[in-house]
Amino acid sequence: MKTVIIMLTGLALAGLSVDNARADAAAGKAAFDANKCNECHYTDGPAKEKTIDDVLAKKGPELWYAGSKFNADWLGGWLADPKPIRLLAYNSLKEKNPGDHPKLAAADAGSVRDFLMSLTSGDVEAGKVKAKKNPKGKLIFTKKMPCSGCHQYPDKDSAKGGISGPSLVEAGVRLNPDWILAYLLHPSVFKPVKDMPNFVGLLSDKDMLNVSRFVASFQPDK
Ligand code: HEC
Ligand code: HEC
Repeated sequence: MKTVIIMLTGLALAGLSVDNARADAAAGKAAFDANKCNECHYTDGPAKEKTIDDVLAKKGPELWYAGSKFNADWLGGWLADPKPIRLLAYNSLKEKNPGDHPKLAAADAGSVRDFLMSLTSGDVEAGKVKAKKNPKGKLIFTKKMPCSGCHQYPDKDSAKGGISGPSLVEAGVRLNPDWILAYLLHPSVFKPVKDMPNFVGLLSDKDMLNVSRFVASFQPDK
């Protein structure tokens, strides 16, 4: 009898925390709209961009798969205190990122994080990628493929690499490792209009996994 009661309490508590998360996601959606985040970001998938003009008209990255892309802890912290991710201004190849992204108050940052984390993509397979500083991945990233020509990455004590793509210096903290692989495997889902070269057919599935592991191992202080 006792175990039954304990089990039932456990179930009730589990139910409660799921409801809380839902309540927070709903509050987060309201805060997202109230703070005019929706003026620059869309949150309903699938991808809306069909032409390069659609891409250039965007004022900010799409967030419809944010829950699959980001690590929740990083996201909550960033929303309260955003720092540039792209070194160049969005959709520019010349201007510097002005670093003026709107900030959320701590309470709103928590609920908006929960809302964004509830937005997921079915094309991200969980449990495939573990961060690993593997030599194969490093060779692909820095030599065999042009990744490092467009992306900053941590190398010993400094950041190296090009600036036309988002910085990957904090990729291991910021991105879900499984999303990195999904992004490389399914460009038509996440970026139907290409602004990064498509590596499908250039990299084997095994090498996609190797390079994803390597990117997922990037930590800002290493
Ligand atoms: C004036 C347009 C604008 C508004 C308003 C805006 N954003 Fe952004 N947002 C951007 C741009 C541009 C970036 C890319 C910043 C960078 O790379 O440093 C961005 C990046 C982000 C990212 C990271 C996405 C990624 O894929 O790198 C998140 C999450 C985000 N914004 C959430 C929000 C939230 C929440 C709000 C409301 C408080 C908001 N944004 C308001 C333009 C905007
Ligand atoms: C010609 C430049 C270029 C090359 C080469 C390139 N990328 Fe990118 N990459 C980009 C751009 C631009 C984006 C951002 C697309 C967007 O958000 O619209 C991007 C996005 C990404 C992202 C998502 C980052 C984020 O925060 O949204 C990852 C991960 C990534 N690239 C990894 C790689 C890897 C791994 C390689 C090599 C196999 C590579 N890239 C090669 C330009 C490049």
